[in-house]
Amino acid sequence: MSTSTISISNHNTTKYIHGYTTDEQDRLIKQSNFLEPYIYSNVDFSNCHHIIEVGCGVGAQIQLLLNRWPHLKITGVDISQAQIHRASEFLKPYIEAGRVSLYVSHDGELPLPDECFDGALICFVLEHAHNPLNVLKQIKRVMKSGSSLYCTEAFNAGVHTYPTCLAFQTYWEIFNRYQKELKGDPDVGLKLSNLALKAGFSEVNANCVPIYLDDRVKDTSRRINLIDWFIEAILSVAPALIAQDKITPYLIEEMKQELSWLKHNQDTVFVYPFQQIKAVK
Ligand SMILES: C[S@@+](CC[C@H](N)C(=O)[O-])C[C@H]1O[C@@H](n2cnc3c(N)ncnc32)[C@H](O)[C@@H]1O
Repeated sequence: MSTSTISISNHNTTKYIHGYTTDEQDRLIKQSNFLEPYIYSNVDFSNCHHIIEVGCGVGAQIQLLLNRWPHLKITGVDISQAQIHRASEFLKPYIEAGRVSLYVSHDGELPLPDECFDGALICFVLEHAHNPLNVLKQIKRVMKSGSSLYCTEAFNAGVHTYPTCLAFQTYWEIFNRYQKELKGDPDVGLKLSNLALKAGFSEVNANCVPIYLDDRVKDTSRRINLIDWFIEAILSVAPALIAQDKITPYLIEEMKQELSWLKHNQDTVFVYPFQQIKAVK
């Protein structure tokens, strides 16, 4: 591990719905590239010098941020040693150049001094956190007064398909119930503004970032990529659900067939509405 990577807590026993396999870590890198146009259309760190990403995973967003704003220094924090280890390999040249530093933290407690960052990012993390309000309070503590936080989160209850996909609906219900069992919140996106206000942020602006597939999308490869991204994301939880007898492999096969069919049917409507806020300290 690089000397720029400091381990604050060696272990955490928190169960993370997607797990920390190499395949899952690769998926995060692939996903960040695919979702970049959606997530970053309203994000601007051009006036910042040193920003923090909480829940940085394997560093996929950090790489995108550095490509977009090459002058930035970025600190990444995650509760998982395995993620930070992978991130330290993935971002090695940037770490060696002194532009990236990585830390392992525990449950949102940031091992960093007050008011040292002039921007902050959270992306698909609060849905997994046991105490999302505390994560927001912690990130606010380390932000400078007047700086902005961008936070993008899931709102899984907002996912819709037309025609209705029954096997998918069954899987999705079990998936979301499992996330709640792990003390996460698959609909935290809907609560982002309220949570940010409770954490003490002001000027909270919210918008929906909808991934929308309907007949306006004529490009077949775009249709295929979109559904394939979604299938890959939700299937990352399938091995855990099968191992716990919550679903059968047969349900997975049925669901794959239903969702694959959506790619090639021009009547399809598929909506995945992320929620994003910008909030000022
Ligand atoms: C879906 S990944 C997103 C990673 C990265 N933000 C991205 O978009 O590629 C969620 C990450 O949040 C981390 N995580 C979960 N709860 C956390 C918490 N309370 N504080 C910090 N990280 C957390 C997980 O270990 C995982 O790496």
